[in-house]
Amino acid sequence: MKILNSTVLVTGANRGIGLALVEKLLEKGAAKIYATYRSANDRSMLQELDERVVPIHLDLGDRSLIAQLSQSVPSLDILINNAGIFSAADILEATEEQLRNDFETNFFGALAVTKALLPALKKNSSAAIANLSSIAGLASMPSFGGYSASKAAVHSMTQSLRGKLKADGISVHGVYPGPVATRMTEKMDMETTPASVAAGNILEDIENGVEEIFPDTMSQQVGPLFLSSPKKLEQSFAAF
Ligand SMILES: NC(=O)c1ccc[n+]([C@@H]2O[C@H](COP(=O)([O-])OP(=O)(O)OC[C@H]3O[C@@H](n4cnc5c(N)ncnc54)[C@H](OP(=O)(O)O)[C@@H]3O)[C@@H](O)[C@H]2O)c1
Repeated sequence: MKILNSTVLVTGANRGIGLALVEKLLEKGAAKIYATYRSANDRSMLQELDERVVPIHLDLGDRSLIAQLSQSVPSLDILINNAGIFSAADILEATEEQLRNDFETNFFGALAVTKALLPALKKNSSAAIANLSSIAGLASMPSFGGYSASKAAVHSMTQSLRGKLKADGISVHGVYPGPVATRMTEKMDMETTPASVAAGNILEDIENGVEEIFPDTMSQQVGPLFLSSPKKLEQSFAAF
């Protein structure tokens, strides 16, 4: 799936990995980038990036806004389900509402956006979907087990979509970042990879048809361990 001259939609495009993806897509010659944002304050920033950027107001918690996507986006080559929340919820201590919040945005939100945009993706003979899971979606990190569970659901959704959409020529990519320098990780005491580096690696792997994408320094170590021994990865994450 080539980025050059493609039409791409990125959710959560106003900051972090999402904004870095928009900037890299511009560099790589995408023809049109639908960039979703939640707060009205972010619209003009996105509009001023480049005339190829089309800002769209989208809150993953608002199903009526998601339903409108099919009217605003007639045709699409690549969908990147990037928007997500991280609640550091311990699975035993969090309230059910906290745990449901992670699932609502990370899993149900991304699934609803995908369903709304499938007709636009199916208009093309080939297309791609990339879902931002996490290394914590491959094996749980117990101190934020709620987030891990929601990202495991994204991993499972990715596998499910891959099977369902193969015959339509839609490739489905799972993205499993470790710590990337964004607002999500700013309070964590961990080494991070710059968002621009992670975004560049994500797009290169989509172009190369890589199904499991490990875009940063930590995930590049964790990914091979997951692929060779999921049990060893679980054991190494148990202390987190
Ligand atoms: N950074 C990391 O280390 C890391 C590691 C693993 C996975 N990830 C995943 O990578 C993705 C991007 O993360 P990031 O680090 O760039 O995070 P970030 O800087 O916190 O940005 C999150 C983005 O998601 C948007 N968003 C959150 N809830 C939303 C909702 N209900 N509706 C619409 N947009 C919503 C935010 O919009 P607002 O600005 O309006 O809040 C923001 O644009 C996420 O799915 C995250 O789980 C990140």
